[in-house]
Amino acid sequence: MNQPSRGSWWLLALNLLLGSAQAETAPAPIELASTCPPGFELSGDNSCALHSLYDQYNSMYNQGVGGLKTALPARRDGFSPQQIDLGRQLFFDPLLSGDQTLSCASCHHPKLGFADGQAKSTGIQGRSASRGAPSLWNMAFLTSFFWDARAKSLEEQMTGPLYSPNEMGNTPAQLLGSINANSTYQRLFTAAYPGEPAQPISLAQIYGAIAAFETSLISLNSRYDHYAHGYAEALNANELEGMNVFRSFVARCAECHTPPLFTNQQIAVIGVPEAPGQPFDTGAESQSHNPSWRGGFKVPSLRNIALTAPYMHNGAFANLRDASEFYTKGRGHALPEEEKARVILHWHIWEPKLADLELERLVDFMQSLTDESFTPAIPSQVPSGLTPGGRLPAALQSSTAKADPTPARLVSQGE
Ligand code: HEC
Ligand code: HEC
Repeated sequence: MNQPSRGSWWLLALNLLLGSAQAETAPAPIELASTCPPGFELSGDNSCALHSLYDQYNSMYNQGVGGLKTALPARRDGFSPQQIDLGRQLFFDPLLSGDQTLSCASCHHPKLGFADGQAKSTGIQGRSASRGAPSLWNMAFLTSFFWDARAKSLEEQMTGPLYSPNEMGNTPAQLLGSINANSTYQRLFTAAYPGEPAQPISLAQIYGAIAAFETSLISLNSRYDHYAHGYAEALNANELEGMNVFRSFVARCAECHTPPLFTNQQIAVIGVPEAPGQPFDTGAESQSHNPSWRGGFKVPSLRNIALTAPYMHNGAFANLRDASEFYTKGRGHALPEEEKARVILHWHIWEPKLADLELERLVDFMQSLTDESFTPAIPSQVPSGLTPGGRLPAALQSSTAKADPTPARLVSQGE
């Protein structure tokens, strides 16, 4: 074996010394990924294109009915690996909230299906948001955002939570100031937007990177999808029965929750009840001034639905069984008296009189729509140096407390 010369021994020792000193004082600097997330392929122009088996199907065929081989709607992709990864840093960085306690993940947590397990979300200083947090899976395919569909792009959408005093409570000026003052963000934005002036970082770049990350959250590989692509054993007998009820002209679920996204992206008035004492939520009427949308909400996707209880815009139902049973309890049964004459329910909301067993099978089927295989990692550190993710959703706070007995005590007991 080659023996290192005296000179290189000295260099090696110096390196080790510097290396260990660095490890103790500061973790390795944050670098952005140069490869696309799983499911995406890197093109020659450094952009990530989504690949899906659904691309081989012809959307004109079966359109509207949502058969097994219906293509996906148009999507947003083509971001660079660096932009997507920078968006991941921003998404988990509590620097984005006014008091630096909340990140996007505080209400859209990967361990809770990118929702927060609450009927209505909790913003800074314990303030209550007016609705529940939807899941963020498959945002790449949506054309409107929020329960009432009031935002037309992801960029427009995120100005809601960022600047709402009941959610993240930030201002554009403070957001720009804190991101531009951070030398790590300066370096990462320069890497993610090489063709643009390096300074100052703009709101468009911040929103663009977060949108890039959101469009990378793809869930299209559930057991249902395996079945749709031709693997007949992927669903068991109960789930298949449930799928047939779901698609039947009696239950009509698939006419609004249309495969393969399990939403037709339209607004529908279905008459979900508010909690006792809560005012009637006028939904899409308030932003459209269209009285026929009074109490209307965007049809939510049912992908990963088993992970995001409670259900509906206000968490009215604790589980999938109750959410399904709502549809069979009678048209408009839950509307307040004074709304019954005003609200125009969707004509597919009827009284399918589903039997108990059919409701159970529906739940079985919806549970086959779970796929988290592309869940991105929570960064181990974020540029602000704050705790990645910030405040956890309540459901995770208690479970971590139970799962993690104070390690310090365990160590001292062992000694
Ligand atoms: C305090 C909790 C909270 C925080 C923090 C939060 N959100 Fe939300 N998010 C919500 C709620 C509640 C809604 C639904 C509001 C409505 O529809 O009126 C929502 C809706 C959304 C939607 C629309 C989804 C759909 O299907 O229409 C997207 C996208 C989204 N949030 C992304 C983000 C991003 C990105 C951030 C960080 C910049 C963020 N959210 C921070 C609670 C939060
Ligand atoms: C007319 C259209 C329509 C039909 C038909 C329909 N839904 Fe819905 N569904 C919606 C809308 C709109 C919402 C959201 C309503 C709200 O939040 O107030 C929703 C919400 C849901 C939710 C909760 C989703 C979430 O993220 O919280 C589930 C579960 C659900 N529907 C299952 C079903 C099942 C099962 C059927 C068939 C028995 C069905 N739906 C039929 C329009 C429809």
